[in-house]
Amino acid sequence: MTDFHGKVALVTGGSSGIGLAAARAFSLAGARVVITGRRQQAIDEAIETLGENAVGVSGDIADLAHHDALMALIEKRFGSLDIYMANAGMNHIEDTSEVTADSYDVQFGANTRGVFFGVQKALPLLSNGGTIILTSSIASEKVLAGHAVYAGTKAAINAFARNWAIELKDREIRVNVLSPGPVDTAILAKLGIPYEQRPAFERSMAEAIPLGRMGEANELAQAALFLASDAASFVNGVNLRVDGGMTLL
Ligand SMILES: NC(=O)c1ccc[n+]([C@@H]2O[C@H](COP(=O)([O-])OP(=O)(O)OC[C@H]3O[C@@H](n4cnc5c(N)ncnc54)[C@H](OP(=O)(O)O)[C@@H]3O)[C@@H](O)[C@H]2O)c1
Repeated sequence: MTDFHGKVALVTGGSSGIGLAAARAFSLAGARVVITGRRQQAIDEAIETLGENAVGVSGDIADLAHHDALMALIEKRFGSLDIYMANAGMNHIEDTSEVTADSYDVQFGANTRGVFFGVQKALPLLSNGGTIILTSSIASEKVLAGHAVYAGTKAAINAFARNWAIELKDREIRVNVLSPGPVDTAILAKLGIPYEQRPAFERSMAEAIPLGRMGEANELAQAALFLASDAASFVNGVNLRVDGGMTLL
């Protein structure tokens, strides 16, 4: 396994799902990790499982003051940052006719504005030779019903990544996108899929994914670990789809 001892990794949305699995993978590989999320209780529970190398900070990524406070804490506690995983995000499934201005702004606020200004605020602390990973979605490339706004939020961050990979070349900061397909996390409940509809939902996902099942959070975490590691030292500006092949169908 790649050794992350001496490294500091920040995972936004690290209190749940893919982010928590990635924070755990970085921590197990030796990194000191910082996680964020909005719900303090979820952060506290996550920190209990991550151990003494982990720090949690609550706040809304759409709020620029949250990023300022986060960076001040990281500077005071660790001095610098090596891995920035912009992972926090959310999704409202709605047909275009149903989308309100509020729903549009909330999704772009978290998924796009939150990523852009989070990275902007992190850059002064990010070490030269460090790495940025943006958690996007295959929805940014593949049409999925009710995903127009969400797809737009994620397509925008794919474009940010391509621009940053070039803007940051003199600092040798690698910038890559991680695009999950359907992964079994809390986001499914947040989408309002009732518990009794889960078996039918899982069957429909199995049919849509060549590997015949949804992904697991740790499978995305292992891909994030690879992108952040020296094993990916020449991987820059890619969009790594971890989707069981779903984008192909
Ligand atoms: N699971 C999938 O099928 C799937 C597929 C494609 C892409 N993705 C992407 O993967 C990323 C992680 O999703 P997940 O499946 O792991 O979902 P999750 O289990 O719901 O975790 C989402 C995390 O983001 C945080 N978060 C959400 N909105 C936030 C905000 N405005 N400010 C701060 N933190 C916020 C959540 O904290 P709180 O709960 O406290 O708000 C939580 O820690 C997201 O960007 C998502 O779009 C997921």
